[in-house]
Amino acid sequence: MQSYRVLVGVGGGIAAYKVCEVVSSLAKDGIEVRTMLTDAAQEFVTALTFATLSRNPAYGDRDFWQPVHGRPLHIELGEWADVFLLAPLTANTLAKLAHGMADNLLTNTVLASTCPVLLAPAMNTDMWEQAAVQRNWQQLQTDPRYHTLAPGSGLLACDRVGAGRMAEPSEILPYVRSLLQTKGDRDLAGKQILISAGGTREFLDPVRFIGNPSTGKMGIALAQASLHRGAEVTLVHTSSTAIDAVRALSGVRCIAVETAAEMRQAMLDHFSKADWTIMAAAVADVKPAHYSREKLPKSALPANLPLATVPDIVAELASLKQPHQRLVGFAAQTGDIVTPAQEKLMRKQLDAIAANPIDQPNSGFGSDTNQAIFLDRHGRQHPINQPCSKLLMAHQLLDFIQGIE
Ligand code: C5P
Repeated sequence: MQSYRVLVGVGGGIAAYKVCEVVSSLAKDGIEVRTMLTDAAQEFVTALTFATLSRNPAYGDRDFWQPVHGRPLHIELGEWADVFLLAPLTANTLAKLAHGMADNLLTNTVLASTCPVLLAPAMNTDMWEQAAVQRNWQQLQTDPRYHTLAPGSGLLACDRVGAGRMAEPSEILPYVRSLLQTKGDRDLAGKQILISAGGTREFLDPVRFIGNPSTGKMGIALAQASLHRGAEVTLVHTSSTAIDAVRALSGVRCIAVETAAEMRQAMLDHFSKADWTIMAAAVADVKPAHYSREKLPKSALPANLPLATVPDIVAELASLKQPHQRLVGFAAQTGDIVTPAQEKLMRKQLDAIAANPIDQPNSGFGSDTNQAIFLDRHGRQHPINQPCSKLLMAHQLLDFIQGIE
């Protein structure tokens, strides 16, 4: 397995405690992690915490003049890193980065490295909203090296409610993992990508529905991967989609729906602007023929439920498709996955389809990992035979879509 290296620079803010979780999670994934703490960071958390979680030394400014393999530490670490995460990024370090200053180990290492840098600022709302801080933040966004996770709003440690909360580990971790794959390349910049996620619910009455086990994780992973590669992303997701994961998708336009009819409308509303559309949602094929506004008493439930068909959304989108647009579906299958997926690819007039086994371990509905065979309309095939994270599969599917002639 390829070994990845992540360098984490911790700044002086209470959000440093959340970065412990980030480091722990990366190290558990087998990623090599090294950490460095500013002097202010060490007022909040200790180097020992990070050394223990990362199984590597955690560096501070007192190590600045200690050479490693006879070379300055900041050069060694800067060249070592595949991705550099700065979290929490303080107003002070943000200002130094915007001006190319280097007066401690962390800022010297930024200048001595060329890898992508992910910035996750955290500070008090008034500090964040200062014109000078906003100017520095805007300035950094013009440099393609820097990838940014703007702070969210909420209750801050200073008891203020407002902007300044560091992005959560659930948002930082997939971004770091994406940058390890892409090396920071924004190859989808300028593209509008429309994605559907989750399982639709077709109601018989206000409490009973026909549904499926989809959790929307694959669609969320596609939204994250597209966003991290620079695309503008719209996600149409159902209420069965893991809501915490949806909340952690800052930068993605999220539209919540429940039924196939609502999903159809939302997809139609946004389809004409989309360069690529990926229907990862598990849409119902049938719905109860009649809907009761009142909850039906048990005694009134029919022994045989009359069903009506649900319009095929992706097939309808295909009929509206312009030549520059690409339309991709998913086929959740058991047994032979390729033959039925090929048939759906042709019948629904798609550009590509991901044939997705749902009867294999660590794959399909609800799993954090997945496997598939990607097929396109020209007969190209790309198998992912070993279960991998849904985020990694999302990147591979985006690569596959790029390759459609
Ligand atoms: O026919 P099947 O449901 O297996 O096709 C799966 C693909 O078709 C998925 O991309 C799914 O999102 C899409 N689909 C749809 N509308 C439906 C049923 C499926 O867009 N009513």
